[in-house]
Amino acid sequence: MKELGYYNGTIGELSEMMIPMADRVCWFGDGVYEAQLCRNYHIFTLDEHVDRLFRSAALLKIEVPMTKEELKRLLNELVQKMDTGDLMLYYQVTRGSGKRNHAFPKGPANLWVTLTPKTLNDSTEPVSLITDEDTRFLHCNIKTLNLIPSVMANQKAVEAGCYECVFYRAGGRITECSHSNVHIIKDGTLYTAPTDHLILAGIARAHLIKACKKLGIPVSETPFTLDDLQNADEIITTSSTNPCIRACKVDGKDAGMKREDLFMALHKEIIGEFLSDTAE
Ligand code: PDD
Repeated sequence: MKELGYYNGTIGELSEMMIPMADRVCWFGDGVYEAQLCRNYHIFTLDEHVDRLFRSAALLKIEVPMTKEELKRLLNELVQKMDTGDLMLYYQVTRGSGKRNHAFPKGPANLWVTLTPKTLNDSTEPVSLITDEDTRFLHCNIKTLNLIPSVMANQKAVEAGCYECVFYRAGGRITECSHSNVHIIKDGTLYTAPTDHLILAGIARAHLIKACKKLGIPVSETPFTLDDLQNADEIITTSSTNPCIRACKVDGKDAGMKREDLFMALHKEIIGEFLSDTAE
């Protein structure tokens, strides 16, 4: 198949799949999701993403309609149906179906899966960023489908010709970006926001920290500010599809780009891990 859609056991070409209007996602965006890459039909970091899906679901009292092992088996089976093994794997669990009513419906949650062709972005070309105030809610650790502030911020970045929008809370503390985490290097140390309720604990972030430890780069999981971002030696964003991106501008002003050696070493380590774990 070229682009696959799965909904509660029904499989079809994505463009032909139909979703019942009573799915809670239509009323409330009531669900949680994961997005990750496959290469050569191997799903990279599957355990970590499935664990996070179950954590997000539990925080919202959504019961995933199968076990972790069953879900992993299903995802691996769906990947085998595709014409290419280089894919974006997206899946979400929504809180069942019913008439519009804030109270939880009875009955099982719904499982959606989509598979579309995609390759990893391993570019070392620096990108530009904008910043904007983080006006999201205080549950950013849960990977929910309620993403309107992120959509608005990302569109602002796109319209400014930039790659990402970096969020800061009132007072200047940097949290994360619209669809990635952000980190800085200053005086040889990697600073990354702690994994509290203000950011999503990114899987790519965890792998960046692992790469730092391997390379002997000190890591400080402490909050940093807009001022620190503007004066950083390097600025790096991470996400599962764009795992190690370097920035050269923040809000139109030159920034980062002072520790090419550290950036290139981290990039090599992170991309190398992806390539070796997904080799044929
Ligand atoms: N975005 N922070 C936010 C707000 C995100 O949406 C994402 C991922 C990340 C990085 O998480 P990870 O390293 O686990 O991919 C951080 C995905 C890719 C998306 O929404 O498409």
